Amino acid sequence: MIYLDHNATTPIDSRVLEAMMPYLVSHYGNPSTLYRSGRLARSAVEAARIQVASLVGAQPAQVIFTSGGTEANNLALKGFCWNKPCCAELLVGATEHDSVLSPAESLEKSGWGLGRIPVDGNGLIDIDRLSSVVSDKTRLMSVMMASNETGVVQDIAALAAWAKNRGITFHSDAVQVAGKLPINFPQSGVQMMSLSAHKMYGPKGVGALVVDRSIELEPLFHGGGQEKGDRSGTENVAAIVGFGKAAELAMQERSQRAKDAERLRSKLEKGLSGMARVVVFADQAKRLPNTLQLGVEGVDGEMLLMQLDRKGIEVSSGSACSSGGKEPSHVLLSMGVERELARSAIRVSLGRDNSENDIDTFLREFKQIISRL
Ligand SMILES: Cc1ncc(COP(=O)(O)O)c(C=O)c1O
Repeated sequence: MIYLDHNATTPIDSRVLEAMMPYLVSHYGNPSTLYRSGRLARSAVEAARIQVASLVGAQPAQVIFTSGGTEANNLALKGFCWNKPCCAELLVGATEHDSVLSPAESLEKSGWGLGRIPVDGNGLIDIDRLSSVVSDKTRLMSVMMASNETGVVQDIAALAAWAKNRGITFHSDAVQVAGKLPINFPQSGVQMMSLSAHKMYGPKGVGALVVDRSIELEPLFHGGGQEKGDRSGTENVAAIVGFGKAAELAMQERSQRAKDAERLRSKLEKGLSGMARVVVFADQAKRLPNTLQLGVEGVDGEMLLMQLDRKGIEVSSGSACSSGGKEPSHVLLSMGVERELARSAIRVSLGRDNSENDIDTFLREFKQIISRL
């Protein structure tokens, strides 16, 4: 099998699994208890907090562990807005992940104004067009650091500075960037940032919201007051330990992983460039080193995905979380891509175990399949 869907999830690193095992088997104490096994679990959670904070240059106290990127995004948007008198306005990027768009739409139903920030043909937000969507009621703005579909990387520092000048709090979904590109939370100007472990060779079901502590959030869950009251519920200790280890490894290996991915992506792009009817989306923008989204005129993306699957090659049609839906990707539509071409999209996202051979095999099978379809 050739796995080319690392933006959907990554395999767990054996070193991560090894770090997690003791907390599943022997050190199973509840970190809120005072006896030895509880204290061991507590210190493991706090060590992981330091590792995750280090990956993004944050303070450990700024890290709130969550059940993943989805919860982190919900906590950022709902937690922020619920803490304010109802209702003002929030802005979200047009290409955001559903875990930002859906809570934003839910807030809209409860009375908040919601604006979508348009992108250009390369999926980039044009700062000059922001004035058409902002108002004096805008309190929060959420723009992802990079798209899970196209890989397009936004100029977050410029957007955050723009928001700061207007007294608007800025959240960024960094789920796809952490472990792939360097992030510095304090320097980015971002006040809330979402992370997820399973996109960087960590376990599924754990993530974090990194937050500037001057921001007050209403918790999504109330209960035992864990995570300083920001996220009640007994900590998923083993997963948090795994997240910490994955973050530590990502810090050590990030630049090599990025170099390797970029080399393979260039090879892929070069191979595709000679093929008729094939379009690479957002190829003029800065993109994540491992990501390439393409369309093939006159071909259905899901059909293409299934044919590749029959050859043992796994790719995604747009965002994994919404595949199965018949609607073309909202990301491509917001970039002005025609519906038919958007429907043909597949995404290839490379990981550290991919080889030149994988790219050769993909190109050979892909060429044969599209000539038949
Ligand atoms: C950009 C982005 N944000 C958020 C998420 C959700 O993260 P999780 O799967 O940890 O809930 C994903 C997952 O696909 C993503 O790609």
